[in-house]
Amino acid sequence: MKRIAFLLSGAAVALLGTSQADETKVDFNKDIQPILERSCISCHGPKKVKGKLRLDTKELAFKERDMPAIVPGKADESELLHRISLPAGDDDIMPADGDPLTKEQIEVVRNWILQGAVWPDGVVLGKDAATIAAEALPEAPKATPDETKALQSLEDLGVAARPIAMNVGWREANFYLLGTNVTDESLKPLKDIATLMHLNLANTAITDAGLGQVKGLVNLRRLHLEKTGITDAGLAHLKGLVNLNYLNLYGTGVSDAGLKHLEGLRNLKSLYLWQTQVTDEGVAALKKALPELEIVRGWDLTAEVKKEGDESADDKKEEKKD
Ligand code: HEC
Repeated sequence: MKRIAFLLSGAAVALLGTSQADETKVDFNKDIQPILERSCISCHGPKKVKGKLRLDTKELAFKERDMPAIVPGKADESELLHRISLPAGDDDIMPADGDPLTKEQIEVVRNWILQGAVWPDGVVLGKDAATIAAEALPEAPKATPDETKALQSLEDLGVAARPIAMNVGWREANFYLLGTNVTDESLKPLKDIATLMHLNLANTAITDAGLGQVKGLVNLRRLHLEKTGITDAGLAHLKGLVNLNYLNLYGTGVSDAGLKHLEGLRNLKSLYLWQTQVTDEGVAALKKALPELEIVRGWDLTAEVKKEGDESADDKKEEKKD
């Protein structure tokens, strides 16, 4: 035990020594990642690859090349540092567009390289929030032949069911832009698209019967039905959509009776009921069944106050989880 304590204090002294020499220890995630993401990834990432250089993964950023971008421990040999250190207005300065990096930022990058250019394994830069969220999802089921056919039928209608993010099999379909050209008939292919996660039917001419096509889409998480002719009867088709977490019924004919059909949707987090027939009693009953649900009834004062109350309740829950 004594020996361990002795070794530990030795290590602490050694650490102190280096931190004095190299100034403070640079933290990749905190210090370097934001600089690269803000100033470099737009031209050196998966979407655009200027100068044949990608800086979004460790493997690519450290790849061997004529003038290596980053040479751990060697500031002079790192082309990346050379480029960002050039005087403003120089033809070769990086970023090639926009403001040069500040003195402090350049210093942090220099120290990072001198300290060994630590890039934690697996850290990928430049992902947007949607991609990060999508990666947390389970893997999408492989498309069946029926699904492939259904996707084609949708495309023929002018609705592309696109992946919700890069490299994921889950899809979103947006009928909103076709508006009232969309009828119950247009929804027929939907029932075969098991990978559908987001569906926007707002502003379309669908009816309660048409909504029957989504009955089996158990992976559906977001559903827009605002400003459609949907009424209470239509909501009966949503009973089995246990993963649904967002439902927008703004400007529909829904009333308290319809809300009854939603009581089993345990994952429902947001429900929009602005300009519907729903009453305080109906909302209270649903809140009782789904206490975590945030119900937005409009921009009148009471709804706002209610919403705020709900949010602080959510915060408390978050704290408890931690
Ligand atoms: C607006 C687009 C753009 C941005 C933003 C940008 N670059 Fe570049 N970068 C280029 C282009 C174009 C080239 C190729 C021409 C050249 O070498 O100057 C290049 C080349 C490079 C090279 C040389 C690659 C080689 O070996 O030839 C490095 C290193 C580099 N950039 C680093 C960075 C860094 C670091 C940032 C962020 C601080 C950054 N770039 C931001 C466009 C950009």
